[in-house]
Amino acid sequence: MTATELRAQAAKIKWWHQIDLGNGVITPGPDNTIERLNWLGLPPDLTGKTVLDIGAWDGAFSFECERRGARRVLAMDEFIWAGKGWASKEGFEFARRALNSKVEDILLDVYDLSPEKVGKFDLVLFSGVLYHLKHPLLAIERVASVCTDQLILATHVDLVNMKRPAIALYPGKECNNDPTNWCGPNVPALEAMLRMTGFQRVELFAASPVDPAFPVEDVYPGWVTLHAWQL
Ligand SMILES: C[S@@+](CC[C@H](N)C(=O)[O-])C[C@H]1O[C@@H](n2cnc3c(N)ncnc32)[C@H](O)[C@@H]1O
Repeated sequence: MTATELRAQAAKIKWWHQIDLGNGVITPGPDNTIERLNWLGLPPDLTGKTVLDIGAWDGAFSFECERRGARRVLAMDEFIWAGKGWASKEGFEFARRALNSKVEDILLDVYDLSPEKVGKFDLVLFSGVLYHLKHPLLAIERVASVCTDQLILATHVDLVNMKRPAIALYPGKECNNDPTNWCGPNVPALEAMLRMTGFQRVELFAASPVDPAFPVEDVYPGWVTLHAWQL
């Protein structure tokens, strides 16, 4: 397929990610994927590692892990891949073909994750999913059960001016006018949940700047990435 044909085919799909398919073709998603990659702090060399990408959507981070040498990458999703959102799994499948990728895929809800279903992974990516969940601690428990070494957790945060562990609840569309956003934990809550589920070391890798004057009743427009290790 020529670059023009590839671009024309890609234009028919509803994308989230911007993925470099080569030959100057970048998938036209609204997400600033390239910049967000720096926010994740993926290890530069993943040679021989196994990676699980939870909530992979179009798979940009899965394909990036494969590019960095991972020997097995499993992309997993539920809401979007199951056709419950504004897009589908079409982008992931298109990009996988275009990149000639061996990334595996599974349609699975994070609450159903277990070593029996998917195995265990050296690196688990859990980016942009936690705040979409009604049961964040349960989800982190499931995530911990399949992680043997490192977890990269990126999420929206709220209540950032509180020192105690706290999780904001969004029963309606309070967060970004999106009814699929359910919770906004603060960093102490994230750290506590990670330690409660067995992670021994937790580090804040990146965080949007905190405005100390922000009213506590408003949804805080914050985002963080935490890195956690089992040992
Ligand atoms: C905001 S997108 C994040 C996509 C990607 N991880 C990123 O950081 O760009 C949230 C993704 O999580 C998926 N998701 C939401 N709830 C899920 C669940 N319970 N189990 C698995 N995936 C879920 C959605 O389908 C969607 O692909």
